[in-house]
Amino acid sequence: MKALITGISGFVGSHLAEFLLSRQVDVVGTIRQRSRMNHISHLQGRIRLVECELRDPFSVESLIGAEKPDLIFHLAAQSFVPTSWNSPIDTIHNNVAGQLNIFEAVRRYGVSCKIQIACSSEEYGHVEPHEVPIKETNPLRPLSPYGVSKCAQDFLAYQYHKSYGLHIVTTRTFNHTGPRRGENFVTSNFAKQIAEIEAGKKPPVLYVGNLDAKRDFTDVRDVVKAYWMALEKGVAGEVYNIASGRCCTIREMLEQLLGLSSVQIEIKEDPARLRPSDVEILLGDYTKFHNQTGWKPEIPFSQTLKDLLDYWRAQMV
Ligand code: GDD
Repeated sequence: MKALITGISGFVGSHLAEFLLSRQVDVVGTIRQRSRMNHISHLQGRIRLVECELRDPFSVESLIGAEKPDLIFHLAAQSFVPTSWNSPIDTIHNNVAGQLNIFEAVRRYGVSCKIQIACSSEEYGHVEPHEVPIKETNPLRPLSPYGVSKCAQDFLAYQYHKSYGLHIVTTRTFNHTGPRRGENFVTSNFAKQIAEIEAGKKPPVLYVGNLDAKRDFTDVRDVVKAYWMALEKGVAGEVYNIASGRCCTIREMLEQLLGLSSVQIEIKEDPARLRPSDVEILLGDYTKFHNQTGWKPEIPFSQTLKDLLDYWRAQMV
């Protein structure tokens, strides 16, 4: 069994590679020349890396033609919401064209493989109070160019399944975190600031954006298991929510993180961290996926936050 992971050097890609190796799957991953390798350096010799620019159809065709994988986990994306306001065209192009190139290459080479598409709860965007917990049938009302790019990926997956019979399973994953989470994302950003303060590398002031937003967090190690099960047991052409079924405000998450530290910290709002429009609440209903695959999140959020903070503490030495 050979699996191709696009974006293997990223946060989720590195955890998925570890998970697949533990299942004796042969792992190939795409990287770009500018990819940072620190998340996967410990896997050297156990995974194979191929340089591929997903936006370039020729690059993708030669990758798919040469590798002919059994499974494709398409994780590579511009995934930070604020960046999508600063460079909306780049986000749309990167996320949509990259996926189209994969679908076209699979179709043209007649590769018989299962493809998982990493879509997002950001597609739901504006959610009415009576619509939570959110089911897959909820209207999509994205509030950022990133959310729109994920809606496009979602619809293209549906269309390529219907038009050409490709075996595509789409996961709409709610927020996820854990060790190696990129430092721009809220849980990691706050944990890193706390670790820097503890290490005396920064004055005891923690900068924040909108603390009132509510998010549903799942541990990345549960998420990669869900991606595997999506291809093992999920139905082609279907969309599944991956979530914990619980949500908290960003303020509550921050309080939990601060509770793991003994230093006194002042909280300050940084206006640059506020967004033109923020999604107020994301709380997912994962019943459909659970009924199909038996998956449920197992790692408690308190453990995830502790592991994340310890990860940043270890980076300080
Ligand atoms: N990044 C960040 N930094 N967010 C902050 C901060 C801060 O200092 N302070 C408050 N927030 C709020 C944001 O306004 C948002 O409401 C929430 O914290 C979460 O922000 P992010 O961690 O940046 O994640 P996201 O919810 O925008 O998007 C993430 O989840 C999606 C799934 O719902 C990303 O991982 C996406 O790639 C993913 O698809």
